[in-house]
Amino acid sequence: MFEGKSCLLAIESSCDDTSAAVICDGRVLSNIIASQAMHAKYGGIVPEVASRMHQENIAIVVDDALKQAKMEPRNLDAIACTAGPGLMGSLTVGLSFAKAMALSLDIPFISVNHMRAHVLSHFIDEPKPTFPFLNLTVSGGHTQIVLVKSYNEMEVLGQTLDDAAGEAFDKSGKLLGLPYPAGPIIDKLAREGKPVYSFPIPRIDNHDFSFSGVKTAILYFLRDEVKKDPAFIQSHLNDICASIQHAIVEILTRKIMYAAKQYNIHEIGISGGVAANSGLRDRLTTLGKENGWNLYFPAMQYCTDNAGMIAMAGWFQFLDGNFSALDTKPFVRGME
Ligand code: KG4
Ligand code: ZN
Repeated sequence: MFEGKSCLLAIESSCDDTSAAVICDGRVLSNIIASQAMHAKYGGIVPEVASRMHQENIAIVVDDALKQAKMEPRNLDAIACTAGPGLMGSLTVGLSFAKAMALSLDIPFISVNHMRAHVLSHFIDEPKPTFPFLNLTVSGGHTQIVLVKSYNEMEVLGQTLDDAAGEAFDKSGKLLGLPYPAGPIIDKLAREGKPVYSFPIPRIDNHDFSFSGVKTAILYFLRDEVKKDPAFIQSHLNDICASIQHAIVEILTRKIMYAAKQYNIHEIGISGGVAANSGLRDRLTTLGKENGWNLYFPAMQYCTDNAGMIAMAGWFQFLDGNFSALDTKPFVRGME
């Protein structure tokens, strides 16, 4: 069945999701994701707990990904794995597993950058963007605008100076007493409300992002309103959520507009967990129509952290013969 084809196993364990995928000749055949729901009770990700859960899940998830793709380990041609950026302990679990597997099967190991993989998630399904395109990568840990010149040539034009977009949603949700991760809940409640409260949008004169101003404004706004009416949050929750979402979406879309104009690029991709946000999708769709953009959103399973995108990035490296040494180390930050 796999004769004449080149097949890779990919592993992702950079944050709190353990994931494995199989790709053959550039087509993703399986993408198994085990999410660690227990972080909700701590109100955020506890790194030590995340590493331990990866350790428990990884063999099962890899086995599932191989089974779903009807793939025997002996038919694999390489193993790809996220080396960073991410949590050191979490990365180490996936990386050690991937290297050990490559060593025992005597096949190449491919170290993949998680941020580049988020960008390359657009190449898993149709329609695919054409080069050069701009990518807005928005997740719980990262917010970047990237100028993508080819599969391997990427320039980070700007990134967040403080919180990531997903973090801005999650921290705002915490102020409202919502469980972690609050992003999807704010999205849902915002659909029932109106953005009647305004929060400051930072001025645009470069490509970097900042969410600390809006976060502080939300904190003081809620403190003042609750002083006047202790039931303010409960009785206005939908409008508050709509207003918070509106501010975060404005910060993101104004930056994309600015970059699209400056570089005169009409191909725009959005990826990462926050790409699931319906307010962001609606606003971009409207802007896209007004500005003649072609917009690209990966399928939901490839937006949040997943090994499918690691497989796609690994596949391009495989085609280039871009293999990695077995002493490759995990890293916390960076695009390389
Ligand atoms: O990409 P991802 O799964 O993991 C990281 O690499 O961080 O993104 C998770 C983030 C969380 O902050 C979560 O609140 C946010 O994405 N998120 C959303 C939505 N779905 C997930 N934020 C806003 N609206 C959503 N619908
Ligand atoms: Zn991510």
